[in-house]
Amino acid sequence: MSDRPEDKNQDQATPQGGMSKGLTSYGDAGFSLFLRKAFIKGAGFTDRALDRPVIGIAATGSAYNPCHGNAPQLIEALRRGILMAGGLPMEFPTISLHESFAAPTSMYLRNLMSIDTEEMIRAQPMDAVVLIGGCDKTVPAQLMGAASAGLPAVQLITGSMLTGSHRSERVGACTDCRRYWAKFRAEEIDAAEVADVNNQLVASVGTCSVMGTASTMACIAEALGLTVAGGASPPAVTADRMRVAEESGAAAVGAARARLTIDRILTARAFENAMRVLLAIGGSTNAIVHLAAIAGRMGFSLDLKALDRMGRDTPVLLDLKPSGQHYMEDFHHAGGMATLLRELKPLLHLDALTISGWTLGEQIERAGPGFRQDVVRSRANPIYREGGIAVLQGNLAPGGAIIKQSAANPELMEHEGRAVVFENAADLAARIDAADLDVTAQDILVLKNIGPKGAPGMPEAGYLPIPLKLARAGVKDMVRISDGRMSGTAFGTIVLHVVPEAAVGGPLAHVRSGDRIRLSVTRRELTLLVSDAELAARARSAPVVSPTAERGYRKLFLDNVLQADEGADFAFLQPTASRRPVPDS
Ligand code: FES
Repeated sequence: MSDRPEDKNQDQATPQGGMSKGLTSYGDAGFSLFLRKAFIKGAGFTDRALDRPVIGIAATGSAYNPCHGNAPQLIEALRRGILMAGGLPMEFPTISLHESFAAPTSMYLRNLMSIDTEEMIRAQPMDAVVLIGGCDKTVPAQLMGAASAGLPAVQLITGSMLTGSHRSERVGACTDCRRYWAKFRAEEIDAAEVADVNNQLVASVGTCSVMGTASTMACIAEALGLTVAGGASPPAVTADRMRVAEESGAAAVGAARARLTIDRILTARAFENAMRVLLAIGGSTNAIVHLAAIAGRMGFSLDLKALDRMGRDTPVLLDLKPSGQHYMEDFHHAGGMATLLRELKPLLHLDALTISGWTLGEQIERAGPGFRQDVVRSRANPIYREGGIAVLQGNLAPGGAIIKQSAANPELMEHEGRAVVFENAADLAARIDAADLDVTAQDILVLKNIGPKGAPGMPEAGYLPIPLKLARAGVKDMVRISDGRMSGTAFGTIVLHVVPEAAVGGPLAHVRSGDRIRLSVTRRELTLLVSDAELAARARSAPVVSPTAERGYRKLFLDNVLQADEGADFAFLQPTASRRPVPDS
């Protein structure tokens, strides 16, 4: 079959673009292109097809990743959108990560996935890329990789799962997973009931149905301008999600033609918008680490003190679990991000550009007027008057720590108590349920060595279980402190991301059971009531040796991972030029 010249259309890639990009070097560019085309024609392509702008599709469908279980349908819709807009879709696999199927923790592999994504975008000929992501670490990894690769990039979210029903009660992963497991631990429900609910918590493929990390990153991707309008909220198995996929394909072709590279989208103003949205949705604390990592790739550093200041005038508006009552599908029915952004307008940089070519302000206008709904509150009637996340300082966390105040117990946010210390996750597992554990509900549980280097990979172990004997006595919450993270679907008075972590010799390493700790969320204070001299003496008597590894990815990880406030990225993946702060005050 030969291509007719009259069939050649205006959608051709530039001589340096499309299939001509990044040729393998044999010292003869003409031969390299000739060879490449010969191979791809083996798959049945014509010259006419190969002359189009090439849109890569980072495909992360995997049998191990039910959060991406709709990837085949998304790719079909994406391909339709790309072809209709005059592009050539080319899908390629990358690493895929699911929270429950990536040991020791998906966070340990996030940076590896970002390297895979970046290098595959660089290595293969494409003019723009669509990133199919959803489960917690996938969207951060893809945005980190795409930010470093520098091409036009569109994030296509897989979408949330549907909610299920257990004995007429609506349930969804994973806030309700924790709630039901806590009931089982407290012997409020039996093994048969906990098995029943296990069948209902995840009612379809898709990401967790509450405002956990996946939903938070979906909203942040839209706030950053990297999805098409309305790309955050449609559930995975809906027609709306497929339409978003088709539109994402068209947007990628438009961005390729306009050379709308990712640096024009990921500006300081876009990151500031994302910080506002994170606060207003009562989003996952994990998103701070991920946002810091993505910003770091673009040469920005997130100013956590400024985030805290922004939180004081950014109320939580979104009434979703774990801070509120509803689920992601309700948010979608309430208009999704357009409804939220419309309410937040006075606090946003409306001139920030989005990947569709419209500014954020134009996107909000194009979404039309709002309507009556009960999921996104007005700023005059928020569900929480300040932003969801507060940043703490003090001698226990010289580099800062955070607490999700919107999911915490108000009675514990001003609290002084005796420390009950666990040296690491294994120590916690061995002793937390022991009948002779010396603990009361007024104590503060402290877990060391679950930071970026400590575990390693900063697992979501910061949601320490309530000791069994207290749980059975009806205790639902205690102050808990660690250098780790917690799932965005969790709730409680939980201090996380203590910097520096114990494994690099932070003060947390030297806390002992019986020490007193003061938490004041009002004053943003986290104080270990032990003198500097005593802490220094403890450090001298028990110096910390940071973990190392002999070989492989573990060595790469331990040698290079940064602390939580820098996104727990690898130092060598960030630009060497000095960082600009966000927000730029
Ligand atoms: Fe994938 Fe929750 S496990 S989003």
